[in-house]
Amino acid sequence: MNNQNTINDIRNKIDIVDLISEYVPLTKKGQYYWGICPFHNDKNPSMSVDPKRQTYNCWSCHNSGNIFNFLEQIENIDFKEALKILGDRVGITVNNFASSTDKKYSKYYDIYDITAKFYQLMLNTEIGKKAREYLKKRNIDSDTIKEFGIGLALDEKNKLSRYLKEKKYDLNTINELGLVNGENDIFINRIMFPLEDRNGRIVGFSGRIYTDSKLSKYMNTKETPIFRKGSCLYHYYASREYVRQQKFAIVMEGFMDVIRASTIGIKNTVALMGTAITDEQISLLKRLSLNIYLCLDGDNPGLDSMLHNGELLEKAGLNVKIVMLKDEEDPDTFILKYGKERFLSLIENALNYSDFKIERLRNGVNFSSDIELSKYINNVLKEASEIKDEIRQEIILKKLATETNLSYNTLEKKLNEYKEKNNNNRNLITNFSTKKDIKYDKYMRASLEFIHYMLINPKVIRIYDNKKLYFVNSELRNLAGEISYYYHNYGDIIIADFYTYLEDKKELLAAFEKVLNLELDEKISDITIEDYVSAISEYNVRQEILRLEETMRKETDELEKAKVAEQIRLLRIGGNRS
Ligand code: GTP
Ligand code: MN
Repeated sequence: MNNQNTINDIRNKIDIVDLISEYVPLTKKGQYYWGICPFHNDKNPSMSVDPKRQTYNCWSCHNSGNIFNFLEQIENIDFKEALKILGDRVGITVNNFASSTDKKYSKYYDIYDITAKFYQLMLNTEIGKKAREYLKKRNIDSDTIKEFGIGLALDEKNKLSRYLKEKKYDLNTINELGLVNGENDIFINRIMFPLEDRNGRIVGFSGRIYTDSKLSKYMNTKETPIFRKGSCLYHYYASREYVRQQKFAIVMEGFMDVIRASTIGIKNTVALMGTAITDEQISLLKRLSLNIYLCLDGDNPGLDSMLHNGELLEKAGLNVKIVMLKDEEDPDTFILKYGKERFLSLIENALNYSDFKIERLRNGVNFSSDIELSKYINNVLKEASEIKDEIRQEIILKKLATETNLSYNTLEKKLNEYKEKNNNNRNLITNFSTKKDIKYDKYMRASLEFIHYMLINPKVIRIYDNKKLYFVNSELRNLAGEISYYYHNYGDIIIADFYTYLEDKKELLAAFEKVLNLELDEKISDITIEDYVSAISEYNVRQEILRLEETMRKETDELEKAKVAEQIRLLRIGGNRS
């Protein structure tokens, strides 16, 4: 049996309703099961599961697919891992499966892998003694060095470059990967930390100076097709099983914080690597856990950064807690100074984000200035109005009343005004997002509907093959081509398996989802098909006329111009001939 068949076999043996029910409660309504979508901040059940097609689809965030797609995203794993897990369940093993993207970059991954091993080896040489002493001085033992794959770039100008050349890797590639510049190593005399992507593959390095040096403290490999700093969270892959156990993730600032926490057994941690949080990092975190503890540095920039990042995370629908360290400490120094128990109790006593924010709002306010005071009060009330817990709202109001000498009633009245406003805004938003009837023009609709029927009726595929229809955009043209190809290769189109087929063609998923989710009758008449074909041909003719008109505008030779005009005239009277 070939791989594709084995994969489809696994898919056939697992019911998608059962699988999704393990994560999301589903209720049957009509022909579908419905549940709260786990892939966006969903309030009403907007994810439907289709037991007949064996697919799921979120009508709000447009996440859709089969059992593999679902598991990939909810467990934050790649297709290969999803295949393995689900295959194990039904006792089927898929051998040697690699996606085409993996194949394309496999050389890159190999080089980083070999380089990481090389650096680790160097740390254990005689010349690595000084670096080992540095690590020892920072209380990093050999188990931790192994766990984090820490290595050393020697104080020599082309040690790595020569080594990789011996291994027959070409210089251009090594240059592209940010390891070597020309013939010379980029990292010299630095302690090396491998950086991994979300699937745990090494995709770059960060090197730290460990001697007296004026060079910048850390240096990263440059961005490559497989590494972008903004989409990287240090220790992400390794943290997953611990996050799953603990049910929350701790976000720290630097490598050393994560590494230190690991030495006291706290491993549900990731590090931002010194930047403000990006959208990509937020969506990675969202896949890790909905409960995020921010534990950045305890100085003013650290607190500001928690305020800012916390806001972004809350907006993305995550529950944020703030772990406050004493002045000037970071998790690394705090743990070294005060030990495990004190750090654990800080985590236990983490503040709700809103309480932290209110606390921060007070910072630096001059209470004898009327303007500042009133601004402060309004900001606190605005923040409090977003809190769902009425007891907490009351506590905030009482505190605010005492500290500002205003009456509780006045504050409460104002708070209610803010709540009212929030409600109105919320209604506006939901009214907007439930508006599903997307308007397509005649040609777009004909294209989408035609392709929809290609998926459920082979006769329509044969018409497509004969007529060489040219749909309105390249996604739809490619999608139709793939459907026809798939049909001729596999003999039948099973929607759920077609999702697997698109695993390497993710750019077509959005078009596929649009086509799939049209509400159409299953049966189709010949007349309707003819209508589609003539609409699409008409579209092609119109495009051709537009193109010729453009040619005519640019043409200077009168005779040529006349020829083009004649062509246009013929097309116009030919009408819908294809
Ligand atoms: P130690 O100083 O070894 O304890 O590291 P740290 O993790 O505490 O570093 P720090 O808190 O100073 O900075 C946090 C993170 O910002 C680091 O882990 C790095 O990812 C990043 N960073 C700090 N300094 C530099 C730098 O000079 N260059 C670059 N590219 N990144 C830096
Ligand atoms: Mn530090």
